[in-house]
Amino acid sequence: MKPVIVVHGGAGRIFKEREEGCRAGVARAALRGYAVLKQGGSAVDAVEEAVRSMEDDSHFNAGCGSVLNEKGEVEMDAIIMDGKNLDSGAVSAVKCIANPIKLARLVMEKTKHMLLTDHGAHLFAQAMGIPEIPGEKLITERSRERWKKNLEPDSNPEEFQKDLGTVGAVAIDSEGNVACATSTGGLSNKMIGRVGDTACIGSGGYADNHSGATSTTGHGESIMKVVLARLILYHMEQGMSPEVAADTALDYMKTRVGGLGGVIVVNKTGEWAARFSTKQMSWATVKDDNLHYGIYAGEKHIKSVDEALASEREGF
Ligand code: GLY
Repeated sequence: MKPVIVVHGGAGRIFKEREEGCRAGVARAALRGYAVLKQGGSAVDAVEEAVRSMEDDSHFNAGCGSVLNEKGEVEMDAIIMDGKNLDSGAVSAVKCIANPIKLARLVMEKTKHMLLTDHGAHLFAQAMGIPEIPGEKLITERSRERWKKNLEPDSNPEEFQKDLGTVGAVAIDSEGNVACATSTGGLSNKMIGRVGDTACIGSGGYADNHSGATSTTGHGESIMKVVLARLILYHMEQGMSPEVAADTALDYMKTRVGGLGGVIVVNKTGEWAARFSTKQMSWATVKDDNLHYGIYAGEKHIKSVDEALASEREGF
């Protein structure tokens, strides 16, 4: 099987001044995940690596750069899933951790459970030797400004839903195993303790070697209502291509519950799709040693991996 990785940096609105940073961030993440696959790493290793790269990149709403809750704190959700055996691990409402996706993977591999939250997740992180970092280190000037603006009495709650960033990755490795990973700071000015779709299996992501893998982004409550990730795999099980399955499920979410979002998909034969019902979604994929990436509907840049790695230093 030829390895494939697809990543997204969140569906929603990307301001002009952030577009280049988001394009570069998803391209870098896809290249890192692909390097893992080319060295014989598993799909799970690759999606973790790609998501970690975006958690460390302050352009995205995950890890450093996460949006803030109503109290002005970062609270993050993450999930990872292995399509070989349907194992998955997730964390919700975690604070003061640089890479929630790593903790989600430890939940998958070192516990009998699938989701740890808040205080329990922190106790587990300590037991696993994951360093705690000051919450301030995850907060950017942009997320603080956004939080303050949303607190103003005339702020429009609809605005909460426009920056719907979340990061995610799906991959298929040389043995035909698929995996997904998704990580987010959630919604800006969300209630303390709000858990979104990202931590919920079948909503924020799903992976099954029998069909494929998907990672979602968008309005979490809408995604949960339609169980978006599992819905896409269901459509593929009925014979749809990744692109048609993604569009069908996104259309359903829009018409049924008025929700917007985006998805990345890979099927068990390595066909892939990156589709969204929002105005923009940053995405990238590497297949056959070629990097494809874009932000707007219809936008697709293509470079060979060698060319992309050479241009990485100057920016994409
Ligand atoms: N999709 C991210 C969230 O709503 O939390």
